[in-house]
Amino acid sequence: MECPKEPLESQCSLSEMDDFDLTRALDKPRLKIERKRSFDERSMSELSTGYSRHDLDMAHSPGSRSFVDTPLSYVRNSFEPHPMVAEAWEALRRSMVFFRGQPVGTIAAYDHASEEVLNYDQVFVRDFVPSALAFLMNGEPDIVKNFLLKTLQLQGWEKRVDRFKLGEGVMPASFKVLHDPVRKTDTIVADFGESAIGRVAPVDSGFWWIILLRAYTKSTGDLTLSETPECQRGIRLILSLCLSEGFDTFPTLLCADGCSMVDRRMGVYGYPIEIQALFFMALRSALSMLKHDEEGREFIEKIVKRLHALSFHMRNYFWLDFQQLNDIYRYKTEEYSHTAVNKFNVMPDSIPDWVFDFMPLRGGYFVGNVSPARMDFRWFSLGNCVAILSSLATPDQSMAIMDLLEHRWEELVGEMPLKICYPCIESHEWRIVTGCDPKNTRWSYHNGGSWPVLLWMLTAACIKTGRPQIARRAIDLIESRLHRDCWPEYYDGKLGRYVGKQARKYQTWSIAGYLVAKMMLEDPSHIGMISLEEDKQMKPVLRRSASWTC
Ligand code: GLC
Repeated sequence: MECPKEPLESQCSLSEMDDFDLTRALDKPRLKIERKRSFDERSMSELSTGYSRHDLDMAHSPGSRSFVDTPLSYVRNSFEPHPMVAEAWEALRRSMVFFRGQPVGTIAAYDHASEEVLNYDQVFVRDFVPSALAFLMNGEPDIVKNFLLKTLQLQGWEKRVDRFKLGEGVMPASFKVLHDPVRKTDTIVADFGESAIGRVAPVDSGFWWIILLRAYTKSTGDLTLSETPECQRGIRLILSLCLSEGFDTFPTLLCADGCSMVDRRMGVYGYPIEIQALFFMALRSALSMLKHDEEGREFIEKIVKRLHALSFHMRNYFWLDFQQLNDIYRYKTEEYSHTAVNKFNVMPDSIPDWVFDFMPLRGGYFVGNVSPARMDFRWFSLGNCVAILSSLATPDQSMAIMDLLEHRWEELVGEMPLKICYPCIESHEWRIVTGCDPKNTRWSYHNGGSWPVLLWMLTAACIKTGRPQIARRAIDLIESRLHRDCWPEYYDGKLGRYVGKQARKYQTWSIAGYLVAKMMLEDPSHIGMISLEEDKQMKPVLRRSASWTC
């Protein structure tokens, strides 16, 4: 696909987009203003010592990269970089996938030793996100732009599972480039769920696509990509899938099991935190990129309304801390009408024993799921980190999540950052919930396994909340093992000590996640591309809980 040219007047940063205010979004067109650093960026760059603002600005200006093979993180460093960094860059470059000579993504794993390839030789949308961030942070935006355009083209395909046609806006979970050496042609096959194990469509792909488009725009200052009619249409198609009216009584998004990073049956159907946090972040990102033309305005109005309702719902009903747990423990059930306190009719007897011991006096988190008479109390790392990055969590809640991480370091991090969820499910519950899945046995894979890729999200959340020392601790753990173990996909065990039962080696997002974490710590202003500041208009009426007052 021809890449659009970049007129000069479109070159600006998107920092103004983050300071959006819901009322303004509705009635004023966006102004193109010069790059101005937001408060968050300012305070973050103050954390990074040794570099002047000029260095940071140079590193972000489009086309500033003049070193072809040397990562910028090397050049900027005044101290010797960890030897893993160079190796990680090499491995990341090895995983690049080309379509007609252009880099369009990275494969999931480059593991030649593994007998079973399955679909690990494909470019997964969610897996490419940390690769994309690494390339953007290193001043190499082209591969990201190509990826965004290629997946946008794939979105336009007609998608079917047997005789059923999928929604127009669905983005693929993954795609593969087929090279024909004889005819010298490249073709693409994509999977929208029709080949996936379990045949479930990836709800997260569209959200990651929007989030990545914003990251690209913010990092390069190039507005011309997001402003093309094709990208604007792509955003609107994704949004139409989740903003349409139906039977919903909640602003959260109803999902099937396995529709996101946890792509197998794991009892995450319903309203999983991972999807709700990504949904929130994608809505805010879309709001900052949609044009105020006739079609755009219609969506902007819908987004604004949904964001109000979604943030209220999440901050009140998904939030759990000591006080809230105690309240649920004392809930009455069968309350009818508007005066009900226990709105979803959660049975106190369904609270699992572990959560009473797990909950510190100080700290809290967003639970895994909330639906009628069903609260999934499990902790999920991705959803909680994205809640911090998108400012779905209020500043108090963000701090409380970090407090919990510190308090429960042994459980949530152990010897290898970071558990995908906590705790695992076992025995009878495992049989019922996973359908006896041999890959998701206790403390393995999606069932309480430890995933190095989550390090980048943890690091970004630490920087955003002003607690980089927590990220450093996690990075130290990673540096003591990941390279020696050949960059596995996940680790098993209560402490995350063992290389995962069926973990791929040279898993690209483990490699890229490490690089992104390192680059963000070196230059914290990088997190601007993946973080959104708090919107003052969305402040909910929240009871202060004991964890914040004691
Ligand atoms: C596994 C993971 C999924 C990932 C894929 C490719 O299926 O569960 O999240 O996208 O592998 O790495």
